[in-house]
Amino acid sequence: MATGLFIAIEGGEGAGKSTQSKRISQHLEALGYEVVITREPGGTPTAEKIRSILLDPEIDDMPDQTEALLFAAARADHAHNKIRPALERGAIVICDRYIDSSVAYQGAARGLGVDRIRALSEWATGELLPDFTIYLDVPAEAGGERMDGTDRMEIQSRDFHVRVQQAFRDIAAASTQPNVVIDATLSIEQVSQAIIEKLDSILANR
Ligand SMILES: Nc1ncnc2c1ncn2[C@@H]1O[C@H](COP(=O)(O)OP(=O)(O)OP(=O)(O)O)[C@@H](O)[C@H]1O
Ligand SMILES: [Mg+2]
Repeated sequence: MATGLFIAIEGGEGAGKSTQSKRISQHLEALGYEVVITREPGGTPTAEKIRSILLDPEIDDMPDQTEALLFAAARADHAHNKIRPALERGAIVICDRYIDSSVAYQGAARGLGVDRIRALSEWATGELLPDFTIYLDVPAEAGGERMDGTDRMEIQSRDFHVRVQQAFRDIAAASTQPNVVIDATLSIEQVSQAIIEKLDSILANR
């Protein structure tokens, strides 16, 4: 039975997920919580190996189905071997991307079907869902300007990234799970402030 708190941070490329994950985890650690900061794809040795395949820009013939299954395979390992054990010992887990990223990228932007892709990840994780999701909303243009890397997902077309951004908005709007959508065009400090306010109130009400 999970007793910790599972927080997912979602958004397109360059939205500020990694930046904010670090800042939130510093804030929570300063309050005395055990915090596990992790990311997808990856987070465990096996999942990091799968990540290197998924993000390899030299692979230009990966079928969309292979991509979807590899993301789900990495997530299964991560959920079973790292996230669930951390929650069971009472830690706060901050996960940079989770199921919604697959729903947005593979389900919506690749066109594989949002319901099918969500069901695949829910099965893969044994229905391990976040307690709270933070959606960092940034126009694909602005996120693109912040992108530094050239990984296999980042080098997709502009249209692809626009579909991803719209998909995250649709997912957040339709979500029945606890979440907040934050305007990530604000400064790093302002975004952190908005997230921390939310988390402090969640923690105070537990
Ligand atoms: N609110 C912000 N305003 C301006 N610049 C920002 C903001 N948030 C992050 N950045 C900068 O944008 C770049 C990308 O941020 P970050 O790596 O946190 O994004 P990300 O969402 O993790 O991206 P990716 O999806 O590629 O992993 C970094 O150089 C970061 O310092
Ligand atoms: Mg990142």
